[in-house]
Amino acid sequence: MKVTVVGTGYVGLVSGACLADMGNDVLCLDLDALKIATLQAGGLPIHEPGLLSVVARNVDAGRLDFTTDVARAVAHGTIQFVAVGTPPDEDGSADLKHVLAAARSIGRLMKDYKVVVDKSTVPVGTADRVRQAIREELEARGASLDFAVVSNPEFLKEGAAVEDFMRPERIIVGADDERAVYLMKALYAPFQRSHEKLMVMDVRSAELTKYAANAMLATRISFMNELALLAERLGADIEQVRQGIGSDPRIGFGFLYAGCGYGGSCFPKDVKALLRTAHEAGAPLGVLGAVQAANERQKRVLIDKITRRFGQDLAGRRFALWGLAFKPDTDDMREAPSRVIVAELLARGAEVCAYDPVAMGEARRAFGEAQRLSYAGKAIDAVQGADALIIATEWKEFRSPDFDALRAALRQPVIFDGRNLFAPAVPACAGIEYHAIGRLSAPARLAPEPPAASRRRAVPTEPIV
Ligand SMILES: NC(=O)c1ccc[n+]([C@@H]2O[C@H](COP(=O)([O-])OP(=O)(O)OC[C@H]3O[C@@H](n4cnc5c(N)ncnc54)[C@H](O)[C@@H]3O)[C@@H](O)[C@H]2O)c1
Repeated sequence: MKVTVVGTGYVGLVSGACLADMGNDVLCLDLDALKIATLQAGGLPIHEPGLLSVVARNVDAGRLDFTTDVARAVAHGTIQFVAVGTPPDEDGSADLKHVLAAARSIGRLMKDYKVVVDKSTVPVGTADRVRQAIREELEARGASLDFAVVSNPEFLKEGAAVEDFMRPERIIVGADDERAVYLMKALYAPFQRSHEKLMVMDVRSAELTKYAANAMLATRISFMNELALLAERLGADIEQVRQGIGSDPRIGFGFLYAGCGYGGSCFPKDVKALLRTAHEAGAPLGVLGAVQAANERQKRVLIDKITRRFGQDLAGRRFALWGLAFKPDTDDMREAPSRVIVAELLARGAEVCAYDPVAMGEARRAFGEAQRLSYAGKAIDAVQGADALIIATEWKEFRSPDFDALRAALRQPVIFDGRNLFAPAVPACAGIEYHAIGRLSAPARLAPEPPAASRRRAVPTEPIV
């Protein structure tokens, strides 16, 4: 099938590459000439595990191409995926200017039947607005062409995006046009050979489903984060509570990790947009408002712990920061807790030396030329001479560090762990004062020395978002 993907970002590039991998002829459009040039030169503009090889083999096979030529992109695909960004507008609602611009281009340039698929996360009612925009463009040039608008929200997770797209848990198609449903079923058939995963529903329900899913996951995280603060006050351990409740199949273990707040390009903006939608519809979502407020507080939780330990004025202090990306296996720093942490530490006069396996280029773009902010090439180098180590992302390489080497490198042996990577006794027994989320702080105690193997053992964790 001939497919065009408008918007070649995290979602558009992964969708385009995976659709090409199933034999489709895919053309990805982006207005960002640098992004397209990078892809045409065989590079990737983002870090996403496994993506490079899928892109490369489909480019080599002639099934995947990239362009900035809008007319060529509109002419190419019967199916036109719209996967452009929908950032928050000033009032929190999703800004639809890119979605509607893409729709207008399609309406202005199409010459035959098109299925326009909203893959971007868009508020309920957007398909109607997309339909209207295309209709207006067709009328403006006196053209009478058939088209359908379909909602097909994307549920992939950055860091596991290729796997998620190739083996989806569900495929939601909101449509009221039989021909469009037939084409969508044909397009997705190769992704669901073991059993049917595609659910056809009305367009508005499909649009709401995406927001409902992200809002539910954000709610679980914020609930656990609030519970973690309570656990600290009560002398309980949130990790033990998590295991205790997660074992109930009605609750399950997913998205129950307390931490230093959720970030990324989706949860914060989608929660905000759904709150706005609910407010405008006269059906406010009180629970979700609390979820958002709790997350804002939680992004500061490590700063609160640090200032309680070192005082409000951090001038002359040096901190190592492990993890800049909003979660492991991505270089995406949109709304990452690390941004709040770095900004606060610098504002209080501290020096920060950061390390992240893949997000340091992104961090340099995000923070610019900030004084007192530097980057280390290795995790242990960031720690040299620091007053404390702060952990903001649960990258695998942070989960079982050499605590003796850490203690030797730190000026003061203190860890603030925003991802609860270790059993508190483990760093404590290595002589490191350990502050985590929802667990009692463990003072350093050097004796009795545990066997080296148990000292280095870390509790297993899963990605937060
Ligand atoms: N990133 C995720 O994990 C994820 C997951 C599910 C859904 N989504 C949703 O998918 C959408 C895209 O997210 P993303 O993270 O891929 O965004 P992104 O910012 O990585 O990519 C969007 C791309 O669209 C391009 N673009 C904007 N207007 C354009 C136009 N008129 N024509 C062509 N290209 C245009 C931009 O240059 C950019 O490269 C958003 O609505 C997001 O909420 C994202």
